[in-house]
Amino acid sequence: MTIQAISEGSQRPNRLGYANLGLGIGLRTVHFDHILKNEPAVDWFEIISENFMDSWGRPRYVLEQIAERYPVVMHGVSLSIGSTAPLDFEYLRKLKQLAADIGARWISDHVCWTGVAGVNTHDLLPLPYNEESLRHVVDRVRIVQDLLERPLVLENPSSYVTFKDSTMSEAEFMSRLAEDADCGLLLDVNNVFVSARNHDFDAVEYLRMMPHERIVQMHLAGHTNCGTHLIDTHDGPVINPVWELFRLAHGFTSGVSTLLEWDARIPEFPVVHREILKAKKVLAAQFSTENESTVDESRATDDHETVPHPAVFVTAQIE
Ligand SMILES: [Fe+2]
Repeated sequence: MTIQAISEGSQRPNRLGYANLGLGIGLRTVHFDHILKNEPAVDWFEIISENFMDSWGRPRYVLEQIAERYPVVMHGVSLSIGSTAPLDFEYLRKLKQLAADIGARWISDHVCWTGVAGVNTHDLLPLPYNEESLRHVVDRVRIVQDLLERPLVLENPSSYVTFKDSTMSEAEFMSRLAEDADCGLLLDVNNVFVSARNHDFDAVEYLRMMPHERIVQMHLAGHTNCGTHLIDTHDGPVINPVWELFRLAHGFTSGVSTLLEWDARIPEFPVVHREILKAKKVLAAQFSTENESTVDESRATDDHETVPHPAVFVTAQIE
């Protein structure tokens, strides 16, 4: 199969009615001018919802310009679907309004909690995976979907701690959540790689266990290798083992919208664009007979002395 054929195949709608948009890039402020001036040939953009919900100046103007020219998807970090704190209905109202204003193709967030009792940690904290937490999250997802009047798309987190109260794997939790809540999934293959290394599980088995027909979107990103653990820093290129997981996931899903996240040490736009376009080389290698290793070598950064362990605040409280 050729790259052209892969591209044509990506046009068909699938996954809860959400189409395969192709290869996208996370929209970041530092790239606003470049995008407006050059209108690069990017298939779609993903925004961080909270960056635009309450802004009405230049960021909103730029977003409206971009939304007129490209498909846009909303990705949130504040839903806190796993928290025991009540859902924030004012937040949800704003989320729905923004989606309507820009014609967002879908709305996603993470399987996590960000705070409780009025405290916002501004971090995506993992959940224990058991029957009680599953019922809790399923109930909340159903409420959110009813309010948003569209299926929610939820992402597997990267994590650095696990819970003794967990009775099932993350893959099982995500699968049952998607089925019971009737929602979509955002498969972050870098998160799978990071968590698999941190918690010593099999990333390939994780991908196999996911309900592939519910995967609406994939994320790719770089991470930091701290030796004893990996941190999901989004500060560099995608390493080859993560590309391999992407290729595997592409096979399982038959291809879904795929997006590159780059959130720290953000390079010039063409560098980010070239990185996501590597996905075509990865897939082309899969479908050609002898074309091995067309992907550039890349590496994890090694800055563990400047990157604090994400769970340091937890251990500080325990001590
Ligand atoms: Fe992600």
